[in-house]
Amino acid sequence: MSTITQDMASHYSDSSKLAARARLAGGFGQAETPWFTWVARHLDLSPGDAILDVGCGPAWFWPEASRVLPAGLSLTLLDQSQGMIDEALERCRDFPITLSGVKADATALPFPDASFNAVIALHMLYHVDDLKKAIEEFHRVLRPGGMLLVTTNGTDNMQELYRLTTVFGSKPIDPAAAAFGFERAEDLMRERFGNAELVVHPQTMRVTDPEVVYLALTSYPPGETAPPEQQAAFRRAIDAAFAQNDGALDVTKQVGAIPSRKLG
Ligand SMILES: C[S@@+](CC[C@H](N)C(=O)[O-])C[C@H]1O[C@@H](n2cnc3c(N)ncnc32)[C@H](O)[C@@H]1O
Repeated sequence: MSTITQDMASHYSDSSKLAARARLAGGFGQAETPWFTWVARHLDLSPGDAILDVGCGPAWFWPEASRVLPAGLSLTLLDQSQGMIDEALERCRDFPITLSGVKADATALPFPDASFNAVIALHMLYHVDDLKKAIEEFHRVLRPGGMLLVTTNGTDNMQELYRLTTVFGSKPIDPAAAAFGFERAEDLMRERFGNAELVVHPQTMRVTDPEVVYLALTSYPPGETAPPEQQAAFRRAIDAAFAQNDGALDVTKQVGAIPSRKLG
């Protein structure tokens, strides 16, 4: 069973629920280099290279990435949600890249061996049950010397906020990191590629809007489907935390990228 939601198809039929979390995760961070630009700078690509974006979502990565990466890339946007692919293709259509969209599962990629110079899987592997199979597939479709770049969260990520979700019976921890945190990512990637080194994105976070916290953490079960009295208790817990901290919460941010290189 995946994290965040058991009914992934309906949850990710479009980007609206993801957007509630993105407003929290992206709206209050302070960093010298914005997240997506920082991720793109870890990719080592040449003009004309082929890149596969697995679990592309609405392709929010690409407006920043296309400013940093070489022109003339051949980009394949892959997701299991057709709604996400449609939005992703629309977002990327004016970029100087060759574009295609593919609906498929990360554990069964419909491409021949050695098709890509790079594969990226940004904040998506925590949804995948068979992680070894997905990483095996990423390895298979990469050319020798090609790079896999994975991003995910660390177990302390936004701990000050996830602590409040215990009113729903949740563990006081980022569910994405619990399923596929830094250590698990490094271990699994090292196991297949023989190399993997976590790099943590330097950023701080000060949240000033309690409503954004509420909407983000009730955008998926159990908060999304909790009874009204539990949701009301969650609201009170958020308001109390903000009141205790003069209206602004300093929150731990732990997001990182793990690159691996296919030997050969
Ligand atoms: C949290 S979003 C991440 C979107 C994007 N990569 C980003 O960083 O903004 C996760 C995406 O992965 C997709 N996804 C989840 N499991 C998948 C799977 N097994 N195969 C392909 N896509 C999957 C979802 O449909 C969703 O669009």
